Amino acid sequence: MPPILEPNTLDFISHSEAQTRRLGARLAAYLKPGDVLALVGDLGSGKTRWVQGVCAGLSVTEPVISPTFTLVNEYQGLYPVYHIDLYRLADAAETATFGLEDYLYGAGITIIEWADRVTALLPGDYLTVELHHLEDTKRRVILRPHGQRFLRLLETFKQATFAQQRQP
Ligand SMILES: Nc1ncnc2c1ncn2[C@@H]1O[C@H](COP(=O)(O)OP(=O)(O)OP(=O)(O)O)[C@@H](O)[C@H]1O
Ligand SMILES: [Mg+2]
Repeated sequence: MPPILEPNTLDFISHSEAQTRRLGARLAAYLKPGDVLALVGDLGSGKTRWVQGVCAGLSVTEPVISPTFTLVNEYQGLYPVYHIDLYRLADAAETATFGLEDYLYGAGITIIEWADRVTALLPGDYLTVELHHLEDTKRRVILRPHGQRFLRLLETFKQATFAQQRQP
């Protein structure tokens, strides 16, 4: 399996839940309000673990769990964080009722699990985080930038995180 799919893509094998969280936490240092992370991956692939890592990196102290009765949890860390989980989304029309666009264009960082259900509604700039189940504790994590902001961000992130052969 090639380590890099495209020059602008980060393709990484995580060997543990902790490593997935750490990669998320490291990425968090580069995020700012208005940023959107689109998480894609099967049940149990590690999407929520990734969100927990990002939130830890943003100094969120409250518990980060997928919303159950609503589609969105809001946390306050360095910035507001909107944790959206669309697993239970009934249909595309429901995105309007819960106000997806208010979050996407709001004052915080938006992280969406099952984001492939609303791809057409995402802004021009966002980062796709793809998680693939390989083995029990092994996941493939692919970051794909969309738009100039995330192209640049990912370049910087890769340099800082992997240039010195350090493991995140
Ligand atoms: N390398 C890894 N990275 C992330 N999670 C891992 C890894 N190895 C094992 N796991 C386990 O996989 C599970 C991932 O659960 P998590 O809730 O994050 O998945 P999810 O993609 O959010 O699932 P769902 O679609 O049900 O919301 C956890 O039990 C975690 O301990
Ligand atoms: Mg989840």
